[in-house]
Amino acid sequence: MSEFRCMNMENIETPALILDLDVLEDNIRLMADFFEGRKAKLRPHFKTCKCPNIAHLQLAAGAKGITCAKVGEAEVLINAGIRDILVANQVVDPQKIYRLACMAKAGAKITVAVDRAENIDILSAVAGTVGATLHVLIEVDVGMNRCGVNSEAEALDLAERIGRAGGLVFEGIQAYEGHLVYDTHQPTRLTDAVKRKGVRKMQDKVGGIKDHLEGHGIPVREISGGGTGTYHITGDDTIWSEIQAGSYVFMDNVYSRGGLPFGSSLSIFTTVIHKRPGVAVTDAGLKVCTTDHGFPSIKGRAELKITGLSEEHGRIADPRDELEYLQKIEYIPSHCCTTVNLHDRYYGVRKGRLEAIWPISGRGKSR
Ligand SMILES: Cc1ncc(COP(=O)(O)O)c(C=O)c1O
Repeated sequence: MSEFRCMNMENIETPALILDLDVLEDNIRLMADFFEGRKAKLRPHFKTCKCPNIAHLQLAAGAKGITCAKVGEAEVLINAGIRDILVANQVVDPQKIYRLACMAKAGAKITVAVDRAENIDILSAVAGTVGATLHVLIEVDVGMNRCGVNSEAEALDLAERIGRAGGLVFEGIQAYEGHLVYDTHQPTRLTDAVKRKGVRKMQDKVGGIKDHLEGHGIPVREISGGGTGTYHITGDDTIWSEIQAGSYVFMDNVYSRGGLPFGSSLSIFTTVIHKRPGVAVTDAGLKVCTTDHGFPSIKGRAELKITGLSEEHGRIADPRDELEYLQKIEYIPSHCCTTVNLHDRYYGVRKGRLEAIWPISGRGKSR
């Protein structure tokens, strides 16, 4: 790597993904403090940071294990020495299941979500071939309308099937309330009162399924779900045993509008490469930040708005000509998870000095 350490942030070549280490550490500590002494534990989601250095900080602060979305992300975690991993998704391809089973065979505790009998059968067959044990959560749809079963009878069928299957251990339920964590279009709609009502409703459903399974002699040890927008509700005196929050480490500009106590630690450092009256153009476009949740904002300058992004350029309306040619500014991404996936490394900065360069080794591991 050509970059040298201990230099001023101003000298980092742009565009670059910057991580404010003080804010990152505060966010990790704040979340860890919330779970200290609570029944539910934190299992942070790796799909946000995709960086083992950050996962290790979360574990050192008390997280019970790590959640990820993809088998490839689990492999990155294993290579970084992390041994308790939930793949909070259905893994249906036998080749991918083989990769999961190999990680389990090598000594990791691997848990995966299911919502279908065929998936249980293939998980069991591959685990048996490899001689591994896979842990399984049955996913329940709690209102997100994505994956998951809906009824007590379906859940019981699957739990009994897991119980009969070799190589599998039934752990409990995955119930993730993506419809309550934030609203991209109306960030103020999901007040805590609305979230509490939604969480009560899903607890009725998941609690009913838990009671049904336990009434049939099948203990439900884990209930896993929750995100940054609901950790303080789903994680507070409910039946959830683990919370999968991810974005709290960075807080993109959508999440930042939700009144949560975490700070924005992530930004894209960019240079004004063209200036004319009323307009500034930067070197940060769609190849370094995503727009699935809207345009990024500009750090510390609420009055300036990005009006367009093309591949390598960002156009900013600058009606009072506040920006200057060659000035460096920071974007706050609108969606941290998808933006991170565009970058190879974080430039960890503390008080304006470059302190660390961390690889985003989970980047692009979407298989
Ligand atoms: C399964 C699952 N769990 C948890 C989360 C929560 O993530 P965040 O804290 O970034 O909202 C997500 C978000 O996509 C998810 O898909």
